[in-house]
Amino acid sequence: MHRRDFIRVLGGGTIFAATGCAPAGADPRAAWVNPGAGETDVRRKALSWAILAPNPHNMQPWIVDLSVPDEITLFIDRARLLPVTDPFNRQITLGCGALLELLTMALAAEGYVAEAILFPDGEPEPRLDDRPVFRVRIGRASTTPDPLFAQVLKRRTDRSAYTGRDVDPSSASNLLGGIRALPGVVCNVTVTEDRIARLKALVYQGADVEAHTPAAHHESVERTFIGTRDVAEHPWGISLDAPAMTAMNTVGLLTKAKMAQPGTTAFNESLKFLKAGADTSRAFFWITTQTNTRADQIAAGRAYVLANLAAAKFGLAMHPWSQGLQEYATQKPVYDALHRELAPTGGRIQMLARIGYPKAEIPPAPRRGLAAQLKGV
Ligand SMILES: Cc1cc2nc3c(=O)[nH]c(=O)nc-3n(C[C@H](O)[C@H](O)[C@H](O)COP(=O)(O)O)c2cc1C
Repeated sequence: MHRRDFIRVLGGGTIFAATGCAPAGADPRAAWVNPGAGETDVRRKALSWAILAPNPHNMQPWIVDLSVPDEITLFIDRARLLPVTDPFNRQITLGCGALLELLTMALAAEGYVAEAILFPDGEPEPRLDDRPVFRVRIGRASTTPDPLFAQVLKRRTDRSAYTGRDVDPSSASNLLGGIRALPGVVCNVTVTEDRIARLKALVYQGADVEAHTPAAHHESVERTFIGTRDVAEHPWGISLDAPAMTAMNTVGLLTKAKMAQPGTTAFNESLKFLKAGADTSRAFFWITTQTNTRADQIAAGRAYVLANLAAAKFGLAMHPWSQGLQEYATQKPVYDALHRELAPTGGRIQMLARIGYPKAEIPPAPRRGLAAQLKGV
């Protein structure tokens, strides 16, 4: 392949627009087709929906114990954490909150209420450990299905460049209106031009810092899979299996080794792709909590998936941008600048996402499937 083609493809915003099919018998996106169909245990049925939750780097670090009837207990798989970019497992905990929200919605859709007990054996600090993250007791009740549940299969993390259409204030308030109040959580959207300009620069700065912090960058590259075969074998992490990605990988233009190495075309074009994404942000959404307890992180994760579902409902694309919120030394200047900008009176920004209108539909991200995440199976 010609170098010019390579740049056009990457710069054209298709780097993450995965459309490739997995080899026969191993569709990494199978979990998105009729989740829970054929399951007779309502817990497994609801979990088949819950594992579609957004989660950091798509690590899906969940182990579920169903050994007690009418209970679902969730543990963390400590081999699936992000020790460099998420040293205190804050983001991983947010992903558990997102899963809990979808689980609750899916149970309600089946006529069950979920009573969730967070960290029943105590909140692990400073890192998660082998204690449960939550235990859900389920019981029959007359439940009202959450209207956002209809959006679960449409929800995406859309990293592409967005169209030039602005997000108007009424769309921003529709989005916020879709998020149920959660204790301790404050959700915000800005559509103000000068603030968007400052945030575009800051989020990109965070990405640039990460790319030039070898341990952080390598953590992401190690969790990236390129080409249909590699993605089918690893239905988690960052999946680059669009046909163009697969082709560039086959000819050796796009490899993990090249992505890891500053100065290569693969490294530079990845940053250009991120810059194009940042520059086409039409609004920003963020979530703050006054304190930063594990319960706050769970609540913020619940709020994030609600926002992402509401975005899908209103035809908006959403892309979390977490680098500048991460707790490692080289991000400190960006972290401080973001907090000065978005939380000037104090509190912790748990989530920051760019918003706009999508240029095209994108396929869902791979999932490992429920069976891979059940304890003792
Ligand atoms: C706490 C949290 C932080 C995230 N941070 C980022 C991020 O910085 N950049 C990004 O591209 N996606 C980020 N994501 C999105 C995940 O990468 C995405 O949910 C995952 O790859 C699965 O894809 P899906 O949301 O399309 O199902 C984040 C998600 C969560 C829950």
